[in-house]
Amino acid sequence: MFSSDNEPAIRYQLWGGCFEEGPSAVLRRLNDSLPIDSRLYREDIQGSRCWAQELHRSGYLAMKDNEEIQQGLNKVEKDIEVELSAKGKLSDPEEDIHSVVERRLHDHIGDAALRLHTGRSRNDQSATDTRLWMLQGLPRLKDILLEDILVLLNRAESEIDIIAPGYTHLQRAQPILWSHFLLSHAWFLRDDVLRLDEQTSRLSRSPLGSGALAGCALAIDRSRLGKSLDFADITPNSMFGVGCRDHIVEFLNWASLCGIHLSRLAEDLIIYSSQEFGIVKFSDQFSTGSSLMPQKRNPDGLELVRGAAGLFLGDSFSFSCTLKGLPSTYNKDLQSDKELLFRSYDRLLDCLKIIGGSVSTMEVNAKRALNSLDPGMLATDLALALVRRGVPFRRAHHLVGTALKRAEVLGVDLQTLPHKEYTAICPEFGNDEELKNVFSWKASVEQYTSAGGTSRAAVEQQLNELRTWFRSCSKQLKFQ
Ligand code: ARG
Repeated sequence: MFSSDNEPAIRYQLWGGCFEEGPSAVLRRLNDSLPIDSRLYREDIQGSRCWAQELHRSGYLAMKDNEEIQQGLNKVEKDIEVELSAKGKLSDPEEDIHSVVERRLHDHIGDAALRLHTGRSRNDQSATDTRLWMLQGLPRLKDILLEDILVLLNRAESEIDIIAPGYTHLQRAQPILWSHFLLSHAWFLRDDVLRLDEQTSRLSRSPLGSGALAGCALAIDRSRLGKSLDFADITPNSMFGVGCRDHIVEFLNWASLCGIHLSRLAEDLIIYSSQEFGIVKFSDQFSTGSSLMPQKRNPDGLELVRGAAGLFLGDSFSFSCTLKGLPSTYNKDLQSDKELLFRSYDRLLDCLKIIGGSVSTMEVNAKRALNSLDPGMLATDLALALVRRGVPFRRAHHLVGTALKRAEVLGVDLQTLPHKEYTAICPEFGNDEELKNVFSWKASVEQYTSAGGTSRAAVEQQLNELRTWFRSCSKQLKFQ
């Protein structure tokens, strides 16, 4: 079971007493999870510390053994930390981080280590480690999401005078405040923060003490144990405790939706950065060049964010497929949870940083935004002017359509269509002066005063609301 100093290093296995042969090389390759779950070493050690302490408190582990285990675990943690920062990986021969920690503990303290796994299974252990890891990792995502919201908020505040074209179907629709556009994306991200918070109550439940599936036959106090690990609660059923991966599903689904939001913002900005639009220009830090065409400035970062949305969806779909139809409790299929969790987590973290960096360092060309407006975008306002003079909207819509057609025939636009052409279509278009007043971008935008609209006052209201919310939930953020 253990290699002594003068024997060649053998693999420490937490099982195998009734086996005559070791696993085949191919099974080891597929089964070994150390390259992935070594990332859980802190959580595994923390879980082991609290487990040993609980065994001691409930009378199953002598004080001396507990002390040795606690000190030994500190050493194991330091060793692994040093090794991981030097080499980026662990080269231990064991199959997973749980075996590595236990074997290294034995190397340090000898046979007291043999008592650590009393009443515990890797099933409740690995479920606990993953939940602990997520509980410390999710707030990091939240902080970066908040930073992105702040970047959008700050830009929206300082660029409130910029008027830009607003699109539906990617066709010019109506003038809007550029800030209104920026905030529309901030609100999506705000909901992502709320959704992330909502997952925590289900995540923060300790499965430790569920054993392999049936619970723990020793009289330990699971609630005390859960509290010592800072969990808010414990899982209420041991079979549920070891078999539940819904928190992973929730996270991957959440990451997919957040990724979709980032991809839509990325796509808007990519479009606006094309020469045809020319509304934004990305900084060198967030652009790349072409190996062939010297003039190119490509928005690769945002394209990768756009593409990542598909990858998040893939991971989330993969894991739901893995869970579907799985028999109760722990099955090895579940081992892939960490691979997908870490992959989506890391990718999302980078995407959020790319978004924050790209948006905070891009230049916005206010003149170009204004010049992209055309009088046709005021057709709705023209119809509304008729409505204010008593014309039913459906008729007004049609009359403006007639004016548009006439302008096209004459080779002009709505603004340069002669006044007499308008009055010939409908006298309610008013006098020349009244008609001219419609053709002001600023006046157009300022009409949209309804809550959540694009008028300056309505956008300022949004800014206040978002900032108040932001203050209520942000801690110490870099960009503040
Ligand atoms: N590496 C495993 C995982 O992450 C640990 C649990 C193994 N349990 C077992 N009964 N083989 O899922």
